Amino acid sequence: MTSYLIKGVSVVGAAPTDLLIRDGVVAQTGAGLTAPDATVIDATGLVALPGLVDLHTHLREPGREDAETVESGSRAAALGGYTAVCAMANTSPVADTAGVVEQVWRLGREAGLVDVQPIGAVTVGLAGERLAELGAMADSAARVRIFSDDGHCVADPRLMRRALEYVKAFDGIIAQHAEEPRLTEGAQMHEGEVSTRLGLTGWPAVAEEAIIARDVLLAEHVGSRLHVCHVSTAGSVEVLRQAKARGVRVTAEVTPHHLLLTDDRAATYDPVYKVNPPLRTATDVAALRAALVEGVIDVVATDHAPHAVEDKECEWAYARPGMLGLETALSIALDVLGPEWDLIAERMSRVPARIAGLDGHGLDPAPGVPANLTLVDPAARRVVEPAELASRSRNTPYARMTLPGRIVATFLRGEPTVLDGKAVK
Ligand code: DOR
Ligand code: ZN
Repeated sequence: MTSYLIKGVSVVGAAPTDLLIRDGVVAQTGAGLTAPDATVIDATGLVALPGLVDLHTHLREPGREDAETVESGSRAAALGGYTAVCAMANTSPVADTAGVVEQVWRLGREAGLVDVQPIGAVTVGLAGERLAELGAMADSAARVRIFSDDGHCVADPRLMRRALEYVKAFDGIIAQHAEEPRLTEGAQMHEGEVSTRLGLTGWPAVAEEAIIARDVLLAEHVGSRLHVCHVSTAGSVEVLRQAKARGVRVTAEVTPHHLLLTDDRAATYDPVYKVNPPLRTATDVAALRAALVEGVIDVVATDHAPHAVEDKECEWAYARPGMLGLETALSIALDVLGPEWDLIAERMSRVPARIAGLDGHGLDPAPGVPANLTLVDPAARRVVEPAELASRSRNTPYARMTLPGRIVATFLRGEPTVLDGKAVK
């Protein structure tokens, strides 16, 4: 196994130092290290972060390998600075059995570019009617701890309560896609001034807020862990703030796109901006940013949602919701938060690793720690070229935008998955 001596790197924004990576771990840190057998990486001007961890990735395998595979999504993740991703269950077949979650987990191991932690479905076939085999998925080789019907809301409160009760036994988490379906029938975009002007059916903020309010009460009643996916409204932030103040075991994520983009993009009728939950208003964006800084929102999660051209480049009403995220997330975070390295490490690595219980991830580079880390060039600027992305899909909302920051290298247990900004395999 090759050893790497990373020279002159700023670890999470601190003064430059050297890192020696040997046998899968950070063997030594400090200025002026030497190691004749090691490959030297000149990291002057670069920042080392603990490898990023994504709680919300759609890898599309099994079933839609034309849009993404575990391997192509893993490569996109590594290029984005990630060392671990949680793979959502809305595949075909749905990841609602031990067999399917084990398949995804095994494909992740074979690709070997990031750790792929499968999320299991809450209900059979995501149909919202019967609980899936949560215990069997937890006991499987994939050791599932997070369950989600993402793409769909677990709308039935009795089923949601049962699910929370079930996972309490092994301290599991129900990750909710908060959308009261009766309030979003036929919805095409955020309900507000822009939807009125465009004459498109709106998705009201209250459809999200009502479910979060209900679910924090259920989680409090049961004493279980709830995670709220892709929080998108200022009102949701207030519900979460109150719940956290009461000590409810709730965590929440926000996506890069909800931190940056607003609903007026829909006026272009370009379906690349169609996403669920929809892009909201500037007021919501400001509240989400503040909540992320404050910690009311715990993590940035990508909701990387690759879609094939025929599902995306069509009329707005027929287009699938969702946008790519893995290869641009860190740049968007830098754009939105500035070079707040400790905050970025916290919200994109340490906290998501802790929530998902991913041992060896989310740890700052220090002697003895598994070498899961990424090197960022904060001074670089890049133009996003969809054709150059590693994802099999092209539905990035940032096409041809100039974004700050570039991932130079990513290491998974001491092995580079990305070097010189390129995937190693
Ligand atoms: O925009 C979205 N796309 N939201 C979801 O909840 C699901 C996702 C997908 O699977 O494409
Ligand atoms: Zn969702």
